[in-house]
Amino acid sequence: MKTPVIFTNWKMNKTLRETKDYFDRFLISAKKYLGKTELFILVPHTALAMAAELTGNSGVKVGSQNHFWEDFGPYTGEISAAMVKDCGGAYALIGHYERRLQFHESLDSIHCKARASLRNRLIPVICIGESIEQRQASETEPIIKKQIDAIFKGFTPYEAERCYLLYEPYWAVGAENPAQPSEAQEAHGVIRESIRKSFGNQTAGKVRILYGGSVRENNVFRFLVQPDIDGVGVGRGGLDPDSFLRIVEIAASI
Ligand code: PGA
Repeated sequence: MKTPVIFTNWKMNKTLRETKDYFDRFLISAKKYLGKTELFILVPHTALAMAAELTGNSGVKVGSQNHFWEDFGPYTGEISAAMVKDCGGAYALIGHYERRLQFHESLDSIHCKARASLRNRLIPVICIGESIEQRQASETEPIIKKQIDAIFKGFTPYEAERCYLLYEPYWAVGAENPAQPSEAQEAHGVIRESIRKSFGNQTAGKVRILYGGSVRENNVFRFLVQPDIDGVGVGRGGLDPDSFLRIVEIAASI
């Protein structure tokens, strides 16, 4: 069985002072779950260098919530994957639902950003998922396949297997309830099958497919025991270190 991947995305939260307080509390207990989980925290860009320094060699990794697809140049206000790497980041979230909704990110830009992540030896965590309207119209499967095809266009099997995919149905992000674990498993099965068709069995077996959307300590177990769910991404449930540690503890016990 693969080591479950557990991460939290702080979104636009936490000052430097709050970042320090969080890691001071989190790292004391997190150590005992390392080895049993692959653990990382996606912080705002302003906190990344400090978070990388605080985590040091602890085994807990940090990363960014977004970056641009070029490495350097006249792109005012942007941060590149090269800069994320330079600050000590190891992972980068790409194409989160909130970025698609509020910043109009396209599948093409997600593709270019994933390439930039790989080029800079980050692990891209690429978000895919459907809206509630698409689900109700039974379009989940074609939508997911279309997203995967567009994002992985021209990738080699080796490049594809270095990416993590985060299945986040839009209607479960920041919502009252998550997807049913059986609904998530079904979507994850579709994702793995698409990867198998494009890149073969070995890549499909290796690629990490994570679930995100209203994951909490009272439901994380039911997601992680699904055969095609290799880990979870946590939003609100990870903002408090103790609450996130309870989720990590459950994951480590599986
Ligand atoms: P949530 O956020 O856990 O608060 O629903 C999930 C996410 O945006 O990744």
